Amino acid sequence: MSNTYYRDEPIVAPSFDRAPSCPFDPPPEVTAVRAEQPIARLATPAGAPGVWLVTGHALIRQILADPRFSSRYETQYHPLLGDRMPPAPVGDLTGMDAPEHTRFRRLLAGKFTVRRMNLLTERVTEITRERLDAMERQGPPADLVEVFAQPVPALMICELLGVPYEERVRFQDQTRVLADAGSPEEQYAAFVQLGDYLRELALAKRARPTDDLLSDLATGGDLSDEELGGVAAFLLGAGLDTTANMIALGTFALLRDPAQFAALRDDPGLADGAVEELLRYLSIATTGMRGVLADVELGDRRLQAGDTVILAVNAANRDPAKFPDPDTLDLRRQAGGHLAFGHGIHQCLGQQLARVELRVALPALLTRFPSLRLAVPPDEVPLRADPTQIYGVLSLPVTWDRG
Ligand code: HEM
Repeated sequence: MSNTYYRDEPIVAPSFDRAPSCPFDPPPEVTAVRAEQPIARLATPAGAPGVWLVTGHALIRQILADPRFSSRYETQYHPLLGDRMPPAPVGDLTGMDAPEHTRFRRLLAGKFTVRRMNLLTERVTEITRERLDAMERQGPPADLVEVFAQPVPALMICELLGVPYEERVRFQDQTRVLADAGSPEEQYAAFVQLGDYLRELALAKRARPTDDLLSDLATGGDLSDEELGGVAAFLLGAGLDTTANMIALGTFALLRDPAQFAALRDDPGLADGAVEELLRYLSIATTGMRGVLADVELGDRRLQAGDTVILAVNAANRDPAKFPDPDTLDLRRQAGGHLAFGHGIHQCLGQQLARVELRVALPALLTRFPSLRLAVPPDEVPLRADPTQIYGVLSLPVTWDRG
């Protein structure tokens, strides 16, 4: 271990670029920092507040459970922007602290009921079958993102929120544009249209409630119109891009590892553990940030009020102090304790839904298309390069033998 660990000297921020040969591994420079300093102070311009990069599993878990670390964006200094962040949009729970967060979280947690999740399990199975039928009818080759990874969670969000059946095609087209299919201008327009649509839908449900989460929120809580629309748009963002990328990137990882692919295909009983391991191994919500509200001792470091911590969750989920042989994808591993859904009061509210979708969709895909393989060389699969986005593939060209 180098002396810098003890001397508290800032280090130059590591590159967040991935190694093209290992697209599933965290950026090598970030991993190198973890090996030396699980919490490292980054060099910032003169006069800027302290910024820390945290890569150790135990430290990130500790921060996420400590109310002295704030989720409010405006408490966080963004090293790339060179300034504090603007506040989160209305209804975005990940940008709130207690007691504001408690109010929203209580209201929402009561809506993600066991009953509703059980109903959704049946629908995930049906939707998955329908999408696989469509893929089979269309024949190889196909872009797995377009035909499967994106539509399954998009249709599930429609179920959860209660988007009427006749509006789902339009809804799906717009979400597809949002998921990288369009130019930045088209994506922005789709984002605004979807937000407007969800706000109108939520308000319509105030007057004519149906059996879905948006109706419950519209009639059962004390949310203003603006808050109601904001929460609806936030849920779409939180539940769609994440799950779609887990399905697509998870499939890509399995296609790169034939032994693991065969293990899951031949033993669907492996699904629960396999999903946890893929969540850990891929860590698609790669980083988070928190603002430091009070002076805190962390490890052997002293953080000051006003500082910012960048939490490299992807590096933490590969921390050898927590997971033996962390860079190996091993679907039989006990991957419990990973931080892919976060930890503490902001831990993902939709995690059971995401698990249901992944546990159904991935084995069903491999069973229906046992000869599934990439239709292009692996290094031609386009990956998301922006480290501030959910990680994933832009498209996944696949092919298979017709049965
Ligand atoms: C594999 C898919 C998913 C991943 C990897 C994921 C990841 C995460 C993470 C890391 C957080 C914590 C953010 C923070 O600490 O600031 C979070 C929060 C959240 N997620 Fe998910 N998520 C997924 C799917 C979903 C789904 C399907 C839904 C619901 C439709 C959902 C709804 C939420 C909500 C409402 C929060 C905010 C919780 C809070 O701040 O109290 N997520 N998610």
